[in-house]
Amino acid sequence: MTSTSHDPVQLLRDRFISAMRAALGPDCPPDPDPLIGPARNPKFGDYQSNAAMPLGKALGRPPREIAQQIVDHLDLAGIALPPDDSTIAGPGFINIRLAPDAYAGLLDALDTPDLGVEKPAAPETIVVDLCGVNLAKQMHVGHLRATVIGDALARIFERLGHRVIRQNHVGDWGLPIAMVTAHVADLARRGTIDLDKLTLDDLDTAYRAAQRDCSPDRRGLEAVRRYDLGPKAEAELEEQVAGAEEALERAKQTLIRLQSHDGATVAMWQRIADVTMSACHAICRRLHANVPPESAAGESTYRDELAGVVDDLVNRGLAVESDGALVIDLKDAGIAEPLLIRKSDGGFLYATTDLAGIRRRVQKLGADRCVYAVDARQGLHFKQAFAGAIKAGYARKPDGSDARLEHAAFGTVLGEDNKPFKTRSGENVKLSDLLDEAVVRAGEQIKEKNPDLPADEQRKVAEAVGISAIKYADLSSDRVRDYVFSFDRMLMFEGDTGPYLLYALVRIRSIFRNAAEQFGVTESDIDARRPGFALDAPEERALALALLQYPGVLESTAEALEPHRLCTYLRTLAEEFSRFFQQCPVLKAPDEATRGARLRLCRLTGKVLGDGLTTLGLIPVERM
Ligand code: ARG
Repeated sequence: MTSTSHDPVQLLRDRFISAMRAALGPDCPPDPDPLIGPARNPKFGDYQSNAAMPLGKALGRPPREIAQQIVDHLDLAGIALPPDDSTIAGPGFINIRLAPDAYAGLLDALDTPDLGVEKPAAPETIVVDLCGVNLAKQMHVGHLRATVIGDALARIFERLGHRVIRQNHVGDWGLPIAMVTAHVADLARRGTIDLDKLTLDDLDTAYRAAQRDCSPDRRGLEAVRRYDLGPKAEAELEEQVAGAEEALERAKQTLIRLQSHDGATVAMWQRIADVTMSACHAICRRLHANVPPESAAGESTYRDELAGVVDDLVNRGLAVESDGALVIDLKDAGIAEPLLIRKSDGGFLYATTDLAGIRRRVQKLGADRCVYAVDARQGLHFKQAFAGAIKAGYARKPDGSDARLEHAAFGTVLGEDNKPFKTRSGENVKLSDLLDEAVVRAGEQIKEKNPDLPADEQRKVAEAVGISAIKYADLSSDRVRDYVFSFDRMLMFEGDTGPYLLYALVRIRSIFRNAAEQFGVTESDIDARRPGFALDAPEERALALALLQYPGVLESTAEALEPHRLCTYLRTLAEEFSRFFQQCPVLKAPDEATRGARLRLCRLTGKVLGDGLTTLGLIPVERM
């Protein structure tokens, strides 16, 4: 974690580390961790250190005794109140209460354009794999997660000052794509499809038809023969099987033509790619997910690298033959299943492309860290691909160390029946339909709550609220866990929802509208004058502590790749603000100084909340 000088946790950490070293001498671990976190019970302090318990265990001494020794050496001047009788509690917790003027100073230091986030000394290059749509298929809820989570992580890295490269690893190559390409070419030849008016819906239909056409029903034919179901049935199935084999053969030929860059075939494929990607980019724009066309780096972009990768692995003895196929053995990396990189028919695999992808990302794009926002069901695939890439040296950076390769795995979106989210007829739910419905429902609520809003503002707000609701529901649940998709829940204006957070910010905006009306004070006045913070009420201090955690939360969210940490933080911040606002009159404050101090607290909360929301990729509004 980079040190942020006004983050009390960081400051206390430094003081505690010195105290631990001084107190324990040679018994002190080389890299002592004071284990500082917010106090469990605010009655006893603002923060607590849990260091004494594990130390006691390690050293075989009573933890309270160790706690006392640490406290005896602790210098809290300028940050916290001096230790007293209640400092050590329970089995050996060390409670810390910040000094009143320390809060004000720390908050003032946080109130910079960067909100206390310091530029990293050595910014990293982080490649984020996100979205990952497939050609000729509609985006569904799985792609929602890959897009929204990937984009949120990318935004958080960017916010922290790292260099981010987004990569949309589009599934745009291989036999299934050749099947649909051949099929669409066929439809076009027969005049049943208009290539100039091709839509993603057409392609989705064609994709399925191609799949069906290329699947010979050999089992059916066998059954017909075994149960002697008559010549007519047998003939029908024979015809199906022959037709399917022919279609499959045509698809294989198409793949060969694609691989050898045959003009007409590539043009057909390109048309399919263009239609798919323009629909994909439109949805990403609507989602306020930053997945620009330049981020597209589909499987097809690796097509001419795969043979080289495989040769390289064979030449260096890393890939070996097994039943006619080529595999990399990963037992030395603790993975029982070998990584298949070439099938016995000579075809390359999804994993071969990901090996080439890691090589490109680390060695061409300069990645220090590669993060993959992809479905948890691909866990084994990534474990294997990462281990294989490391074994092959493809993750090696110029300094000789390996880039960090991480799978930000996410769980499945479930329907209210706790089964994977599908339409009633069992189809995948189209992402665009889902967004439409969220926006319509948000619109109904906005209209009811705010009938005076002009119609076009109402529409804009509904769009922002509906999309933010879907995104927040996705981001706020523990990433690896499945979650149940519920419009009713995600659109509530109270509770752990996107609308609640947007509303918290709207409330702050409206405080300032009133402040301007009543006192002629605007947000920029507060920024210019920077009235001093007064932190007398417990609710003011609680809000201040929450604000001070912001830079640290961004850091830990980025480290753990868990956007829900930032969500939880923002929700807590909004709640602390709400408590403060109930208990501490702002515009009706007893005097001008208190009013100024509280407006400053409102202003800073608004900045942090607004920054946090946009860093997650939600869409703040002025009114709702
Ligand atoms: N297209 C894939 C799918 O739909 C996701 C791609 C994930 N990224 C990767 N580098 N494998 O499952």
